[in-house]
Amino acid sequence: MRTKLIPLCLVALAAISCGPQWDKIAPPVTPGMAAHSGTSEGTLQVGRSTYIAHCGRCHEHQLPDSVSDEDWHVVVPGMAWNASLTKQQEKAVREYILAAKTHQ
Ligand code: HEC
Repeated sequence: MRTKLIPLCLVALAAISCGPQWDKIAPPVTPGMAAHSGTSEGTLQVGRSTYIAHCGRCHEHQLPDSVSDEDWHVVVPGMAWNASLTKQQEKAVREYILAAKTHQ
């Protein structure tokens, strides 16, 4: 069963977090992260995939820890507009970034 996942993973690799190489840039979502942030793991996963797929298109990924919480609140709406994200994706990215920070 597991081997069937591998081709799927490869297909998704370009856009979505599948490999460990992303773990440094975008810490994987954990149950603890979800509990601490009060945001569901599902939403945080959407935020992480969106962040990986869109937030490194114009510049290097800006690591969650490289920007203060206050500044993330200011930066994300503008960057979400840059990346043409939906409101839902924008919210998920912000939740994910803030949750990822707290848990490093
Ligand atoms: C269409 C191109 C584009 C996309 C997509 C994009 N950015 Fe940016 N980003 C920029 C540019 C240009 C700057 C520098 C000028 C500025 O601050 O607006 C920047 C700057 C930043 C900064 C530094 C801001 C500061 O004031 O120091 C952060 C943090 C950032 N982006 C995060 C993100 C995140 C998170 C995403 C994904 C939601 C994202 N970016 C997607 C173009 C983009």
